[in-house]
Amino acid sequence: MAEDYKLESEELDEVRPLLETAMAVKKNAFAPFSHFHVGAAILTEKGNVYSGCNVENASLGGTICAERGAAMASVAGEGYSRFRTIAIASGSDEPVPPCAICRQFLSQFTDGDVPVYLVSTRTGVVKKFDFSELMPYPFIEF
Ligand code: THU
Repeated sequence: MAEDYKLESEELDEVRPLLETAMAVKKNAFAPFSHFHVGAAILTEKGNVYSGCNVENASLGGTICAERGAAMASVAGEGYSRFRTIAIASGSDEPVPPCAICRQFLSQFTDGDVPVYLVSTRTGVVKKFDFSELMPYPFIEF
């Protein structure tokens, strides 16, 4: 089940750099249509961190979410590798989960036991899920 924390909680000390990366990249979001800024940071099994922010497009459907941006950056940066930890930062009172398209996209790289931290930069609320709670029955091969 989801666990709730506050951003300053010392239980988060180990993952704080990843949360801070997600919060920092959120500032680069290009969201002139929704004005909703999102940042994502991914720690890979190789120990590297990749980040992304949402980039909107006038076509709306061409918009790329922060999570897919970060996953794309990881493949561009080091090739395919498995994800160890995922952090997503947004500015609503309750931190937002990844959309279903992003859950599908992340599932190609992410085992069910991987922790996903959702952070609200407005309230400091942090929710931690196992990836399998967000994506219980992923489509990853055929
Ligand atoms: N968005 C993300 O980047 N990630 C999410 O997890 C939810 C939604 C973006 C897409 C769009 O630019 C804006 O937030 C509003 O949906």
